[in-house]
Amino acid sequence: MRKLVRLRSVELDGTRRRLAACHDVSDLRRVARRRIPRPVFDYVDGAADEELAVAANVAAFRQWRFLPRVLADVAVVDTSVTVFGSALPVPFLLGPAGYTRMLHPDGESGAARSAARHGLPYTLSTMAATGIEEVAAAVGGDAGAAGGAGAGGGAGAGGGAGAGRPELWFQLYILKDRVQANDLVSRAADNGYRVLVVTVDTVVAGNRLRDHRNGLSVPPELSLRTVASVAGKPGYWLRLLSGPALDYANFAGRAPTTIRQTADFFDAGIDWSDITDLRSRWPGKLIIKGPLGPADARRAVELGADGIQLSNHGGRQLDRAVAPADLIMPVREAVGPTVTLLVDSGIRHGADVVVALALGADAGVLGRAYLYGLMAGGEPGVDRALDLIIRQFRSTMQLLGVTSVAELRKRGRELIARGAG
Ligand SMILES: Cc1cc2nc3c(=O)[nH]c(=O)nc-3n(C[C@H](O)[C@H](O)[C@H](O)COP(=O)(O)O)c2cc1C
Repeated sequence: MRKLVRLRSVELDGTRRRLAACHDVSDLRRVARRRIPRPVFDYVDGAADEELAVAANVAAFRQWRFLPRVLADVAVVDTSVTVFGSALPVPFLLGPAGYTRMLHPDGESGAARSAARHGLPYTLSTMAATGIEEVAAAVGGDAGAAGGAGAGGGAGAGGGAGAGRPELWFQLYILKDRVQANDLVSRAADNGYRVLVVTVDTVVAGNRLRDHRNGLSVPPELSLRTVASVAGKPGYWLRLLSGPALDYANFAGRAPTTIRQTADFFDAGIDWSDITDLRSRWPGKLIIKGPLGPADARRAVELGADGIQLSNHGGRQLDRAVAPADLIMPVREAVGPTVTLLVDSGIRHGADVVVALALGADAGVLGRAYLYGLMAGGEPGVDRALDLIIRQFRSTMQLLGVTSVAELRKRGRELIARGAG
């Protein structure tokens, strides 16, 4: 019998066992849904209004079909790319997410460490529940390239995450309180964050109906409404209550108490002069993140932006905003071949990033895809999400008959065709 059936060793650690049974991002999402209280899961999974954009984002990547070439010797494939001088092993980055530590105590630091282990940059949100300094310390202090952005142009030098050094980026909301916003920019520079990502689609808070209906408060409170979820998910609450208190760590002493109140931070009056101002303050690379069409993208570059991150905030701001995947081609055409073009919103599979690169993007930025992993199993869950997506990316390239990212970018539209839908 032993000869016929080899017994597998049993994984005693419950989290590892659960993660090992996840084989794609949908599996991680399912585990997250089972293990995390509904209001918290919905905070991540939900989007604005009727949630039309979030579904359309995912569909926009999936409308493309591959046109593979066979017998192309894909035994060795080079999946690496260079983004702002950093060699990354794969064209992925981790995007910013507010209040990540509410999902799991490993939070922002765990996600940043996992990113660093994979040689990828991690973007810390203005609205993070772990501070700029703490995340820099969590990944080992020297977050950026030699000297960091604060040392006056350290950003853009060689090295970076792919060279084994953790790389942190900072995402800025241009707050009503500009003194506070500028303070964040200086702290990010002083702590070696290499790239400043300015989010421009959050002039008012998105209308997230699931959060309103769930009465989500930040930090989550044990109200009558949440008692039922405590009974069902004791592990989550135990973890939450045994860790440090949750707050918007970058603004100690100014923590709003409901998701709705975060709206007070944002400024509906921001305009292009704010980009000019930030350009003069930030010595490193500058990216504008939002649903930029060709005209806005061109203007951002004219004002000194080094890159564009095409995004509709995962459908969490303007519902029905165009899917960023559909903006890649026109924006690449508008800004030319040398401007760094990133895309997020809807990436759930490595093949989505193969499509993004074939359309003209330089790299894909993950949002919910790694957050589901974090909810499913903390830092090891982020590892699992990244491992799965990276494996998918690599095997998609091989099956497509492409041996390098450079070739994928060059042959681009030859390799994909719009499917029947
Ligand atoms: C829970 C959550 C929180 C987010 N918080 C921020 C944020 O603080 N700043 C920001 O620029 N984008 C934020 N985003 C948007 C992401 O950076 C990214 O644009 C989006 O998640 C991409 O869509 P996808 O998750 O569907 O792929 C958040 C997204 C999620 C899911």
